[in-house]
Amino acid sequence: MSEAAGEFQQFAAQESRGSSPLYAHLSREICEDPELLALAECVPTAQPTPNLLFAAVQYLLFETPEHPLASYYPSIAADPLPVDDETYPLFRAFCLDNRDQLQSILGTRRVQTNAVRRSAVLLPAFEYLFQRTKRTPLALLEIGPSAGLNLCLHQFGYDYGDAGRCGEQTAAVQLNCTVRGALAPPLPTTMPTIGSRIGIDVRPLDVSAVEDSKWLRALIWPEHTKRQQHLACAIETAQRDPPTLVAGDAVDRLEAVCSRIPTDETLCLFNTHALYQFSQTAREQLLDRITALGKQRDLFWLSCEYSPRLLAPVAQLLAFENGTKSASLLAMYQSHGEWIEWIDAASGVR
Ligand SMILES: C[S@@+](CC[C@H](N)C(=O)[O-])C[C@H]1O[C@@H](n2cnc3c(N)ncnc32)[C@H](O)[C@@H]1O
Repeated sequence: MSEAAGEFQQFAAQESRGSSPLYAHLSREICEDPELLALAECVPTAQPTPNLLFAAVQYLLFETPEHPLASYYPSIAADPLPVDDETYPLFRAFCLDNRDQLQSILGTRRVQTNAVRRSAVLLPAFEYLFQRTKRTPLALLEIGPSAGLNLCLHQFGYDYGDAGRCGEQTAAVQLNCTVRGALAPPLPTTMPTIGSRIGIDVRPLDVSAVEDSKWLRALIWPEHTKRQQHLACAIETAQRDPPTLVAGDAVDRLEAVCSRIPTDETLCLFNTHALYQFSQTAREQLLDRITALGKQRDLFWLSCEYSPRLLAPVAQLLAFENGTKSASLLAMYQSHGEWIEWIDAASGVR
């Protein structure tokens, strides 16, 4: 089996299973289809092939909502059809008819899904850091922010069920997050003060550019209509008050960008689901750079990534305070922020 076939097989069996019946069905068919696998070959090796191909197809389909394939996309059709015997032949024909355009998108675009509900995982961590640093304004520096929508987290409203509500309750972006486990996450009564907001991305997406916003929509799986709503509202929020996005490799740019952060702000580096796109060497270099910076000034690094050891996404904190380094596991969470389980006993609420 080719590498691409293996990726689609895994995507059908694990990633999309139970989350996108349409993509699970299409993936099962694609992994047996040499012509479509050949089309997927132009995906750069570091990119997840199924995500990129499906996003490219949806991107084109947004422009042709009258195409019969669009009837199966809840993101496009008002009354979508369930998957049936015609779905794959229509998908296949659409891909082959649009082969040149698809190849061009696959060669130039990247998987840069900006998952807005991850803000519900970040907020309690930032509230914790705000309290820990005696309410000093936080400087948020995101590694791999995509369009920087999670750098607008202080402008969203949050509902953590019995654990409470917080944030801007009249904001357009309202995020629900279920709390699991014995501890509640630390939630703010008033939002932490945010100072600088900067992201470094190899290819930042520009919310004021129509094509970039369309690409952000195309990356969301068709059945995830709530996420589409969050995205649309968060794009409007970011258009009104955009964070600063710096184009470049985070490892190369980190030091220069950090030097722009005022020393009276608490430097909080963070990343969500970005480091899987770094090579092992780049991850090690990033840690080295952050450790070197941590010797020059106090800083925190909040890393929210999938843990192969724990088989779940985890929020980990590395703190550099007064020359001392400490690490803690703050929380486990659903990858899109649907639920959070606070683990860290020192900061969790009983
Ligand atoms: C899957 S997206 C996640 C976006 C955002 N953090 C979120 O959770 O919604 C990963 C982002 O990391 C960026 N990225 C990958 N490698 C990078 C690098 N070496 N330096 C900076 N950004 C990088 C990609 O361009 C992409 O925008």
